[in-house]
Amino acid sequence: MSTDFTSLFDEWSQSYDETVLGHDLEYNEVFRNYIHILEEVVNKSKGNIIEFGVGTGNLTELLVKSGKRVCGIEPSAGMRKVAKKKLPEVKILQGDFLTFTHPFQFVDTIVSTYAFHHLTDEEKETAIRNYSSLLNGNGKIVFADTLFEDENAKSNMIRNAEVNHFNRLANDLRTEYYTTIPVMKELFEQNGFTVTFTQKNDFVWLMEATKQRRE
Ligand SMILES: C[S@@+](CC[C@H](N)C(=O)[O-])C[C@H]1O[C@@H](n2cnc3c(N)ncnc32)[C@H](O)[C@@H]1O
Repeated sequence: MSTDFTSLFDEWSQSYDETVLGHDLEYNEVFRNYIHILEEVVNKSKGNIIEFGVGTGNLTELLVKSGKRVCGIEPSAGMRKVAKKKLPEVKILQGDFLTFTHPFQFVDTIVSTYAFHHLTDEEKETAIRNYSSLLNGNGKIVFADTLFEDENAKSNMIRNAEVNHFNRLANDLRTEYYTTIPVMKELFEQNGFTVTFTQKNDFVWLMEATKQRRE
């Protein structure tokens, strides 16, 4: 997990909500259907919810509006400041996917949008293993993030970005830890989840992983 990202996110916190509205041409497709994607995550969430990488609090806000109980975790002070301004009544704590505290006795759902790619595949495994112990029986992980069907599909998307001179996007796809569906499937299944993947735009997939009760 990279540790030098928080200043980048502190800076982006001021313009992030314009990016998700499609004001940044390079990231237009990444954020196509953004609100619909967040709504899908809300609809699949239940009970006590922990949200990782809340950013400016857009998913948090929809969760709260639909009457759900949520605790947000966010490493960037700049992002936390924007989110807390929008949602002064919600607990938004400093932390990350691997190191965090929360106020719940039981956790029913873990959610995150556009953030899990900040972990290496090894760290993703550690996180999912931790969540498997943390979640109630039949608890869920509901994530939306950029994923690729395989390494070939990922290389094609990097090439497309380069051809379009989307250099920031191409660099992002090359340097962040974007992974593939077979890798995520394996990580969920080896930690006792069944998982479905639904494509939401050319980059983002919705992952719904349900913990299987042990007999
Ligand atoms: C692209 S933003 C997504 C924000 C929001 N979830 C959304 O859907 O609009 C990525 C967020 O993940 C956070 N982040 C980066 N690394 C993280 C980590 N290791 N654990 C948790 N959050 C992280 C960033 O600070 C940033 O707020």
